Amino acid sequence: MSLLKLYEYPSEILRQKCERVTKVDDELRRFLDDMLETMYVDKGCGLAAPQVGVSKRIIVLDSNPSDEDMRARRPMYLINPEIIWRSEETILFNEGCLSLPDQRAEVERNEKVRVHYTDYNGAEQEILADDLLAIILQHEIDHLDGVLYIDHLSRLKRTRLLHKLNKFYEERADSKGK
Ligand code: NI
Repeated sequence: MSLLKLYEYPSEILRQKCERVTKVDDELRRFLDDMLETMYVDKGCGLAAPQVGVSKRIIVLDSNPSDEDMRARRPMYLINPEIIWRSEETILFNEGCLSLPDQRAEVERNEKVRVHYTDYNGAEQEILADDLLAIILQHEIDHLDGVLYIDHLSRLKRTRLLHKLNKFYEERADSKGK
């Protein structure tokens, strides 16, 4: 397995609408494995293909990405995922994103979603998700349409967050330069 390069805001690829996957083969499965490994190493609970530079409708996630107990992990691979139902009830959750490092903000999401997708073996699946899993699914599927969680914030909150993100980038560049 190999680790993939993460693309961060404001990379153009994060704003593109991704293409559907037409074939699930061993090459794609290798990519799915690499995505999952990259997600665990970077301590995320979800990752979308455009975040590693591939504009295809693929996400991986784990709503329990435990480091201590590998058996507790619940990895999921979703190809061409589509939200086919959303609950009217919404919830607030403090979200982060590997493409906007070191930042978090509260986002309003639907409490439950039903998602149709193709799995690791190419079989059609459907899942009814709630809680953290529903939030991760909505966040990651947004990525496939070029949408980031900051797009759901008020303009003021988004501006503040992007300001802090730029400071983080500057400090990171400084510490690397030393
Ligand atoms: Ni994200």
